[in-house]
Amino acid sequence: MSLETISTSVEMTERLGEAIGKVVCAGDLITLDGDLGAGKTAFTRGLARGMGLSCRVTSPTFTIVNEYNDQQGVPRLFHFDTYRLSNSDDFYDAGLDEYFGRDGVCVIEWSTVIEDALAKERIRLLISGNGETRTIRILYSEKYASAMQTVRAEMEKEGMHFADISM
Ligand SMILES: Nc1ncnc2c1ncn2[C@@H]1O[C@H](COP(=O)(O)OP(=O)(O)OP(=O)(O)O)[C@@H](O)[C@H]1O
Ligand SMILES: [Mg+2]
Repeated sequence: MSLETISTSVEMTERLGEAIGKVVCAGDLITLDGDLGAGKTAFTRGLARGMGLSCRVTSPTFTIVNEYNDQQGVPRLFHFDTYRLSNSDDFYDAGLDEYFGRDGVCVIEWSTVIEDALAKERIRLLISGNGETRTIRILYSEKYASAMQTVRAEMEKEGMHFADISM
């Protein structure tokens, strides 16, 4: 299943992240792909907010993964940036796949580098564009159909338009 929408500001991309953050649960996987500056980290900032986390989200480019949680509790967010990895062997060698079994939501920037290590059951965002305009394609498996309906309805109230697309 896939949807396409347009974001015309960084705030709108964050709001989309926030709406998705409200419907995800521990064990869920979200991947974010798009050029440098596409808005992957901006989206993740919103995602954290939607999950109820007040942490300041920064890019994990050098650390590969940042872990966010409020005190000891859940929800936890594991924020990956796999830009610096060559392939999924690097990912496995560093033991990073262990995060998939942990009690939290995983979000991965530059996920195509490790595509073969990723579950098909996930929400994929493909972001493209320039200036302030971003075309955001959201591909998701059946499991997320009703959650994405909720996200769509919430964002449409804010004036964001969605189209069903086939990819
Ligand atoms: N519609 C938009 N959505 C998201 N970001 C936007 C938008 N319009 C402009 N921007 C700007 O684009 C930049 C997005 O930066 P961000 O760090 O989120 O990108 P990124 O995809 O994580 O990049 P990187 O690949 O380097 O990690 C910010 O400077 C933001 O202000
Ligand atoms: Mg980033």
